[in-house]
Amino acid sequence: MSGASSLGGLQRFEEQYIPFPPFVAAKDAIEANMVLFRETGLPAHLLVLGESGTGKSSLCRWLGAQHPTRKLPDRDMVEVLIVSIPPAATIAGIADQMLKALGDPVRVSGTVTHKTARVVTLCRQCRVQLILFDEAQHLHDRGDTRTHYMVADWLKHLIDEVGVPTVLLGLPRLESLLQINEQLRRRFSRRLRLALGQSDTDDIETECLQLFISLASCLEVGVSAVPYTWREMGMRLYYASDGRVAYVKKMLSAGLRHCLEKDRMHPGNTS
Ligand SMILES: Nc1ncnc2c1ncn2[C@@H]1O[C@H](COP(=O)(O)OP(=O)(O)O)[C@@H](O)[C@H]1O
Ligand SMILES: [Mg+2]
Repeated sequence: MSGASSLGGLQRFEEQYIPFPPFVAAKDAIEANMVLFRETGLPAHLLVLGESGTGKSSLCRWLGAQHPTRKLPDRDMVEVLIVSIPPAATIAGIADQMLKALGDPVRVSGTVTHKTARVVTLCRQCRVQLILFDEAQHLHDRGDTRTHYMVADWLKHLIDEVGVPTVLLGLPRLESLLQINEQLRRRFSRRLRLALGQSDTDDIETECLQLFISLASCLEVGVSAVPYTWREMGMRLYYASDGRVAYVKKMLSAGLRHCLEKDRMHPGNTS
C-alpha cells in the first residue's frame, strides 16, 4: 500500500456514503414523499430519530447533494431546504435560520409573524419541495412546557402554510416535543429510526459486520478478523460501536492511520 494512495483512500472513505439498511429506508421514504407531493400535491411528513452518530446530518447532506440549489438570475431554486435548528433556539431564531438557508437577500427585522410570513413567501418563490429540520431536538431543549407547546404550534402552523413534505430529524428525546402537541404529533405519526438492529433477517452483530466490511471496501486495504472468527468480530464491533456508523467508521480510520504509521516506520513492509 503506498502512502499517497492510502491518503487518497482515507479521504474517499470520509466522503463516501454507504447504503446501510436504515439509511436507505429513510432516504427512500423521504424521496417517496417528494414523489407523492409532485404527483398529488399532498404533503406527507416524517420523523427520523437516531442517537448521535447514526447518520442524520449525513442523510440531510446526501439529499441536499441529490437536489442542489440552482441559481437563477432572479432567485435561487431551493428544492430541498435544510435547516439545522440552533441550540436554545427561539422561534425568531429558527425563522432567521430558514431565511438564511433560503438565501434571503433582505434581512427581515420585526415580529415573528412578519418573519414567518417571509419564510412562507420565500419557500413558495424558491419552489421548495422538501424541508429537513436537522437537530430538531433543540426545539425542545429550551423553556418549559408552555414554550414547547408554543414552538410546536408555530411549527405546525408553518408546515401547514408552506404545504410541502417536512422531515424532523433528531435525537430520540425529540419525541417528547410531539407528546406535548397533539396536532404536531398527528402530522409526524410516521417514524423511522436510523439505528441498526431493525432487520427481520440479520441480527445486529451481522449488520455491524456488514457495515464494517462495506466501509472497509472503500479503503483499498484488506481487513481480516484474525485472531477472531467473523461472528465474534461482529459481536465485538457491535459492543464497540453501539451499531452507530460514526463509531464503525472511526475504528476503521484509526486502523488505517495505524497502518500508515507502520508503513512510515518500516517502509519495506507492504502489509
Ligand atoms: N450512509 C453513510 N455512509 C458512510 N458514512 C456515514 C453514513 N452516514 C453517516 N456516516 C458517517 O458517520 C459520521 C456521523 O454521521 P452524522 O450524519 O454526523 O450523524 P448524526 O447527525 O446522526 O450525529 C460521519 O463521519 C459520517 O461521515
Ligand atoms: Mg447531526
